Formats: sequence, C-alpha cells, structure tokens
Amino acid sequence: MSTPASIADFRALAKVRLPHFLFEYVDGGSYDEVTLERNVADLRALSLRQRVLRDVSAIDTSTELFGRRWSLPVGLGPVGLAGMYARRGEVQAARAAASANVPFALSTVSACSLAEVASGAGAPWFQLYFVKDRGFVADLIARAREARCGALVLTVDLAVPGSRYRDARAAGGGLKRWSQLLARPQWLWDVGLHGRPHSLGNLAPIVGRKAPLSDFQAWIHANFDPSVSWKDVEWVKSQWDGPLIIKGVLDPDDAKAAVDSGAQGVVVSNHGGRQLDGVISSAAALPRIAEAMSGKTKILADGGVRSGLDVVRMLSLGADFVLLGRAWAYALASGGQSGVAHMLKLIEAEIRVAMALTGVTSIGGIDGQLIDRG
Ligand SMILES: Cc1cc2nc3c(=O)[nH]c(=O)nc-3n(C[C@H](O)[C@H](O)[C@H](O)COP(=O)(O)O)c2cc1C
Repeated sequence: MSTPASIADFRALAKVRLPHFLFEYVDGGSYDEVTLERNVADLRALSLRQRVLRDVSAIDTSTELFGRRWSLPVGLGPVGLAGMYARRGEVQAARAAASANVPFALSTVSACSLAEVASGAGAPWFQLYFVKDRGFVADLIARAREARCGALVLTVDLAVPGSRYRDARAAGGGLKRWSQLLARPQWLWDVGLHGRPHSLGNLAPIVGRKAPLSDFQAWIHANFDPSVSWKDVEWVKSQWDGPLIIKGVLDPDDAKAAVDSGAQGVVVSNHGGRQLDGVISSAAALPRIAEAMSGKTKILADGGVRSGLDVVRMLSLGADFVLLGRAWAYALASGGQSGVAHMLKLIEAEIRVAMALTGVTSIGGIDGQLIDRG
C-alpha cells in the first residue's frame, strides 16, 4: 500500500503486519461488539454545520490541559501490550507523541517499563490499574511520582474483564500459534525475536520476566481487584499530588463522584467497547456528562475516534480533550514511530480542515453550535 491516507489505511496495514491473534486483540471488542460499533457509528452520524466566509486564515489547534499547552487537543491514550505491535513499541509511540507535543499515556500493562519510556522519550502520563497487591499499587504510584509523570490516569472500568470472542477464537498454543507467527516473518524477526516483547515492564516485580501473555485475560481476572471503590480513589489521591484523571466514566453520577473524590479530570469511555457490551457510546454519554459537570472538571473522551473530524465532533459534544486508542495502535503496528507521527499529522490536517469549514479558528471556539441538529 502507498502512504496511509486515513486510519482505515493504517488498520489495513496492521492487519497484514501483525500475527492474527495480535490483530484480533487490538481490533476486537467484547461479546458481539455492539458498543464498539456504536462508538464509531454514533460519531460518524453527527453532522457538522458548514459555515462560510468567516476568515479562517489563521487556525490555532493548540489547547491547554493540566498546566501545559499541547499542539493538539489530542493525546495517545493507554493501550496495553503496545510493545508487541512494534519493537519497543511504547518508546516509539511516546517519541512520536513528544515530537508532536501531545501527551502519551503509558498503560500499566505495557511491554516497556515506565523507566524505559521516561528515559527514551520523556515522562509520559501513567495509567494505573488496581491489582490485588496494594503495596505494589503504592509502588507503581511512587514510580510515577518519581518519574514526574504529568498525570495519573486511573482506569476504573475493568473491575472484571469483558469476554472477547475474537481473542478466544484466535487463541491456541502449539501449531496454531506458530502458524500465525510464521505467517508474519517480518514481525517475528523484528518484534518477536529482537524486541523482547515477552515481559510486562511495569509488572515484572509481580509477574516475573515472563509475562502471562498466552492467557492474558485469565491473568487479569485472577489479579485485578474487583473490590475497588471510591474510597480507594481517595487512597490514590493521598499518594499523588499531580493531576488525577478517572478513566472509564459513562454516567453523570459517576462523573460527579469522581469530582467529589478530588479528580481533576474524567475520561468518558467504555474502554473502546472492550468491556460491557451494549452500553451507550462515548459520543452518546458525553453531552450528559458535560452538562452535569458544567466546567467543574476537565472532560476527556475516547472511543471510536478514527479521524480529525471525529476529534472535532467529540469537542463539539463537550469534551475538552480527546484520546486516541486503536488509531495509534494501528499506526504503530504499521510503521513504528514514523507511522504514529504520520497518523498525528493526518489527524492535525483533518482537524484544521474541519475547523476552517465550520468557521472556527481556535479550539476554545468549538462547541455544540458546530453540530447540525436538523
Ligand atoms: C488493544 C487495546 C488495549 C487497551 N489497553 C488499555 C489499557 O491497558 N488501559 C486502559 O486504560 N485502556 C486500555 N484500552 C482502552 C483505550 O485506552 C481506549 O479507551 C479505547 O481504545 C478507545 O476506543 P478506540 O480504540 O475505539 O478509539 C485499550 C484499548 C485497546 C484497543
């Protein structure tokens, strides 16, 4: 394929570059993928209002979040196992994000450790999952503090993992796994043999150097802590004085609770349709949460964003900032750091066109007026 022109092109490339089970892990959602499809469809269904003759010669796509000015209202959200999509993948993606001056959030379940990413690309945001060993969770927070991470993203929509049919169908050991690997010799050579993807960098103290990759979901089931409650958010808060973002909120009452617990931001998210299938899309949840919050907290959103137009749609629905998930994972699998850098350029160009043709010149100017409600 020639140079990717869209996220769909990156997805097609990722499909031919990654071993089948890995592509299915990235691309899939839970159960019948109803919510995954809704995330994409509900955004696409939103009509923007075309406006003309409004002098759009100078467009500023920068925005401020948590005391920093970013070049775009977009960040790379936490995506687990990204170090398996390209060699030392999280470092490559974090470098692309740093050059584009957008935030990168490192997942707890990354291949590269926080220390490796921080030394290779600068301090990322750190995404925290609660495992049962609280001493270890405290240690992860301490590491994020010492690395001077710009924000702690506490993901709360994975008390238990949703089932993913596509993972189950693609799984298998022995011959089946080997035939999938041998069908992707470039990946096998570059990542499988030379990329050391067999560990989960941040979790090495509890899982050892050999990560439970063959049955990752079962490992999560056994080790993630379903007893987590709002009291634990206060516990996290007592150890972290930077910005705390609660990720995985779909309900206005939960967003209010997040603010009451001292969070500076929420991510309106259903985990990209990978958890409770059948819940509403992020696009549908966003306006209700934005209304309930009325400026009391920063609202980030993700789910189904496949273009710069979708970024503008999310902002029009009330988000202050938008996180990408699969979009950057596909780009990383397609072309490593330069793939992610190119993807961010495409997103920026699309945001600029969408702003120009809806007649706004600053991110602050994007609001519900941009949506054509018929
Ligand atoms: C392959 C994959 C792995 C993910 N891993 C994590 C993770 O480790 N932590 C987390 O908070 N969210 C994780 N997510 C959810 C994303 O942060 C984000 O909410 C979601 O991908 C947004 O939907 P989109 O991919 O349709 O844009 C993951 C998503 C995908 C696709």
